[in-house]
Amino acid sequence: MPKLGINVDHVATVRQAREGFTPDPVLAAKICEEAGAHSIVAHLREDRRHIHDRDIQKLKKTVKTRLNLEMSLNKDIVAVAIKIKPYQATLVPEKRQELTTEGGLDVIKNFTKIKRVTKILSQKGILVSLFIDPQKNQIIAAKRSGAKSIELHTGCYANAQTPVALKKEFKKIKNAVKIGNKLGLVVNAGHGLNYKNTQTLAKIAGIAELNIGHSIISQAIFVGLKKAVKDMLKLCKQK
Ligand code: PXP
Repeated sequence: MPKLGINVDHVATVRQAREGFTPDPVLAAKICEEAGAHSIVAHLREDRRHIHDRDIQKLKKTVKTRLNLEMSLNKDIVAVAIKIKPYQATLVPEKRQELTTEGGLDVIKNFTKIKRVTKILSQKGILVSLFIDPQKNQIIAAKRSGAKSIELHTGCYANAQTPVALKKEFKKIKNAVKIGNKLGLVVNAGHGLNYKNTQTLAKIAGIAELNIGHSIISQAIFVGLKKAVKDMLKLCKQK
């Protein structure tokens, strides 16, 4: 049964709609933890469109489980991570115009830079995870980079439009989990997971943690955050 990490970015998205102080992603993180979340995820984007530096500073002080900072390889963001020292840093590709992280890191193409940032963060005691597509060559490169963990991008699985496509994407993830585990990597997964597609994925043995944001924060509008978290936890636990 995988653990559940909750991404609170979109609480900050709503706050930024009015550029005010509410809703507060730090308070949301506390409620998620009280409801049973195993970690809190927040993405400090280069354009600061949702989560701000002060949110990360506060989360570092208040999160009782584990703080997983999603971040690009940008040197200013790396400097923030070094200063704040989250439990974990998940390195992701970042494009200014995208609505959300569109694909995994190309570890092969950007190997030298990823290896360097992984080393810098690891030396500061931060657990480094690489967000990658479920592809064998990317997993092997991730291992070679020195990262201890990977997060498999589940976007294609989440967006599959037909049962055949869904089965194909599911198989890709299952196979990638096996490869990652064999190499001794901690394997997480996430992106686009919701109340319909998570349960099937959660049954794959060897996934340490699922990281979910948008669907839980959206559901919270209707049922409250605590229930939204508890309902997702149930799906992670069901056999
Ligand atoms: N994992 C990573 C690395 C991400 O970039 C995101 C999106 O910020 C998520 C998980 C969560 O995706 P979603 O909001 O679609 O659940």
